[in-house]
Amino acid sequence: MLKQISSIEEYTNSYKMSISQPENFWAVIAENFLWKKKWTQIFSGGFEKADYKWFEGGKLNITENCLDRHLELLGNKTAILWEPNNPSEQNRKISYNELHEEVCQFSNALEKLGVKKGDTVCLYMPMIPELTIAMLSCARIGAIHSIVFGGFSAQSIADRILDAECMWMITADGCYRGNKPLYLKKIVDEALEKCQSIKKSIVFNRSNFECPMKEGRDLWWSDVIKNCSKTHEAITMDSEDPLFILYTSGSTGKPKGVLHTTAGYMVYVAYTFLNVFQYKPEQIYWCTADIGWVTGHSYIVYGPLLNGATTLMYEGIPQFPDWGRWWDVIDKYKVNIFYTAPTAIRSLEAQGLKSIEGKSLSSLKVLGSVGEPINKEAWEWYHKNIGKEKCPIIDTWWQTETGGILISSLAGITPEKATYATLPLPGIEPIIVDVEGAEIKEMIAEGNLCIRQSWPGQARTVYKNHARFIQTYFTTYPNKYFTGDGCKRDNDGNYRITGRVDDVMNVSGHRIGTAEVENAINEHPVVYENAVVGFPHAIKGQGIFAFVACQTHPKDILSFKQEVLDIVSKIIGPFAKPDRIEIVSGLPKTRSGKIMRRILRKISEGEFDKVGDISTLLNPEVVEEIMKKIRN
Ligand code: PRX
Repeated sequence: MLKQISSIEEYTNSYKMSISQPENFWAVIAENFLWKKKWTQIFSGGFEKADYKWFEGGKLNITENCLDRHLELLGNKTAILWEPNNPSEQNRKISYNELHEEVCQFSNALEKLGVKKGDTVCLYMPMIPELTIAMLSCARIGAIHSIVFGGFSAQSIADRILDAECMWMITADGCYRGNKPLYLKKIVDEALEKCQSIKKSIVFNRSNFECPMKEGRDLWWSDVIKNCSKTHEAITMDSEDPLFILYTSGSTGKPKGVLHTTAGYMVYVAYTFLNVFQYKPEQIYWCTADIGWVTGHSYIVYGPLLNGATTLMYEGIPQFPDWGRWWDVIDKYKVNIFYTAPTAIRSLEAQGLKSIEGKSLSSLKVLGSVGEPINKEAWEWYHKNIGKEKCPIIDTWWQTETGGILISSLAGITPEKATYATLPLPGIEPIIVDVEGAEIKEMIAEGNLCIRQSWPGQARTVYKNHARFIQTYFTTYPNKYFTGDGCKRDNDGNYRITGRVDDVMNVSGHRIGTAEVENAINEHPVVYENAVVGFPHAIKGQGIFAFVACQTHPKDILSFKQEVLDIVSKIIGPFAKPDRIEIVSGLPKTRSGKIMRRILRKISEGEFDKVGDISTLLNPEVVEEIMKKIRN
């Protein structure tokens, strides 16, 4: 098993070695996994062509590392604790033995249907153990999973299926989120009207919802596993064989299918899970993310299972049946490590302390934060009221593209500092560059965050579009990985992430491209142009502000705004709906016609005195008009 860093000296030594001899460093760690054949080369390639590879020549299967190798010692240990949406429904405890059997059985079922190594499989599921079983089964037979978060619309599912050329779909009839039913299968059916590539759609019956099945295409999960054996020999994968695709938003165009491969991702998420959370055997770990996002992939499923941990999955929402639910779940299962997002902390804080009254929370040892900068007030509230001032808070910075955490304290081992993600993990060398791309070498610095060398968990490409991968991450600053984030560094080398420096918004921890929302709004027949910016929002971190210009001024403004919201929900999903819509006569533009989002950003932040010189714009009068409107 992997050795855990247990002192600050060990961290410092590991860090030094990881930077001076990265290949040796990662090889020693990789030795702790189950390989069918060892690698022949630890690392090759670089950032110029983004052709870096880790553990080349190695052969393995990640699910043997998540499951099979634990069975002898941990077979009866609980792998997944599942808490349903409704507290009166029966919970589930699935041991490593049981999870292994279920994964083997479903792997056999997939193979029987004809799913082969290299096929792409789209998953659109509720937060139930079958989602984990389905993803692990894909990995076991060498199929590439492409999970779509359950909040996305039919259109978004269809776009992702078409882009990834998925031939198989796995879904469920639906689920409840709080009191609200979510009819997943209906949404999938609408998506599949546009996707002729899907051969079969497997449907898990979660909720007994009425669920028409299309003959020849739709199959019940319970039927496909019938007569399938509970043993299955895992397919042999090369280290660099694809493991999964996960779509994420960028500044331009449609979301990108970020591709992660097998061995490097495995080594990196296992190592970071163990060290950042300081997981100890027998502890109960709970990450509140949805598996549809990268946090769920790496730190609900792969990271914990690779370490033989017990991972809790919760199907519901924090406010059902009341705002005390999360705290009840922590007390019910005696959760030791709790990992959530600042937006959730702020929502809970806004409820006051009543929801915590009578809850013990005494099992907690480590608190984590992810997804967006955590503001000081939220940090302090979390520290005092949930951690009772005895739990370290790890502020973990990373991205879909990084596979795992890159900057974070190690819980209780390296120092924490409110609002700072703090120090880089071993293997990670952050650099700060100015807008010209020059590295700022002084310790105290502020600028754009890049990473100097590759690490095993780094994404390898954008699915079927390597040119876009290079363009997005390795061209702005040649020979460096550009994160898209701004940051500050203090005198002790701690990093504080200040937010995106590109046209990507972070709304309740969800990453949304301004261009995606703009394209959706443009679908409204009377809209002729629009611009979207993020603005500070007390709970969500950032809200979405849409400035919309119409061919004719809508007569009924309220229903026009509702139509705009409906279009965004339909094309992307409800979580991308603008918080504010302002109808304007035009958008501020340069003489060459470029929309000045920077000005709109300042206006939406209420910083009217910081819009700068507008005299050189094509239409300065528009800025005056918009400012007047917003002021009012
Ligand atoms: O801006 C950073 C922010 O979330 C972005 C990555 O989003 P995504 O790929 O959806 O992954 C989210 C979960 C890892 C980053 O570019 N972000 C993530 N974690 C933090 C953060 N910003 C500040 N502090 C963090 N701890």
